[in-house]
Amino acid sequence: KSDVSIGLLGLGTVGCGVVKLIRQHQEELVHQLGREVKVKRILVRDTEKDRGVDIDPASVTTNPDEILNDPEIDVVVEVMGGIDEARRYIVKAIENKKHVVTANKDLIALYGPELQELAWKNQCDLLYEASVGGGIPIIRGLTDGLVSDRIQKVMGIVNGTTNFILTKMMDEGVSYDEALKEAQELGFAEADPTSDVEGLDAARKMAILARLAFYTNVKLEDVEVEGITHLSSADLHYGKTLGYTMKLIGLAECQDEHIEVSVQPAYIAQNHPLASVKNEFNAVYINGEAIGEAMFYGPGAGSMPTATAVVSDCIAAIKNMQLGVNGRNLRGPRFERKLMPPEQ
Ligand code: NAP
Ligand code: HSE
Repeated sequence: KSDVSIGLLGLGTVGCGVVKLIRQHQEELVHQLGREVKVKRILVRDTEKDRGVDIDPASVTTNPDEILNDPEIDVVVEVMGGIDEARRYIVKAIENKKHVVTANKDLIALYGPELQELAWKNQCDLLYEASVGGGIPIIRGLTDGLVSDRIQKVMGIVNGTTNFILTKMMDEGVSYDEALKEAQELGFAEADPTSDVEGLDAARKMAILARLAFYTNVKLEDVEVEGITHLSSADLHYGKTLGYTMKLIGLAECQDEHIEVSVQPAYIAQNHPLASVKNEFNAVYINGEAIGEAMFYGPGAGSMPTATAVVSDCIAAIKNMQLGVNGRNLRGPRFERKLMPPEQ
């Protein structure tokens, strides 16, 4: 085959970014893969909607089988969100021997290990770099760059919407409602922003990171969660006058074979590196036995940054395909470790 065909499930904030990036960076893709990459078909709910991207109207469909059963499609990219339908489509794609790239942390937090097993069984890749930290290559950092180390702690700001809201409230005196509205308009917030502001989105991401860092099947219910909805402007300004800034912090720690994972708002000293992480930006600190401290920083949400992670995963899957090694790089839970139950 001369080119690689991708099937896209979803054409919203991230899906439009993927279409644009594949077109704008085709030269880089060809350089990496020696072949062109094309988005052959796109699943949406509403085929009439104007999305501001240049696509062939004939490529848009409301029938997922036109993607999942198409033998010419090698890689299925799931950027539609939600859980049940997304899971069904991903399972079908893998059973049809397609490699899957997803940005869906809700799904990976709940069903990541079982989908990964299915992918291994079918010698397919299931890659989800964009599910944590938007454009930051944090998953590749953990599972590739730092794979030789023994990770002790993962700490950071992993939700762009709440960081955006807290920054706007604290630095510009914008109200909570206005800041949330702006985050929604910019495409950072989830379809239902409750999961952002209640800390659930960050909890899902921390469960995924803890799983990969500690090789243990951390479940969502193992994560202690507190969001930002109860914080007032007065809380934020009081902290500021004392030299502190409020951030929603995710923490995953492994000590003496015990793992603790939590998400909660915390006052950070204004000279701490995490205090300078503003707006939709994310940052993740890693403490490893050998490396000491490392920090990953970048845009944690948004169309093009997130598309970068998605398309890089596509390149990885296609490279593996060319080498015939799909589904063989990552390994599952290795250690039995005790998870501390969330404090009541
Ligand atoms: P979005 O803007 O709401 O787009 C979702 C797209 O999926 C829409 O095009 C929608 O079609 C389509 N869709 C949804 N349900 C569908 C269904 N049942 N059948 C067919 N099409 C369906 O969402 P998004 O912000 O791009 O996010 C997509 C995924 O990426 C989510 O899992 C999200 O958590 C994750 N993510 C988002 C960001 C971000 O910055 N936005 C960053 C990292 C990860 P219509 O347009 O026709 O309604
Ligand atoms: N709603 C998410 C956030 C999108 O604000 O971080 C990126 O995962």
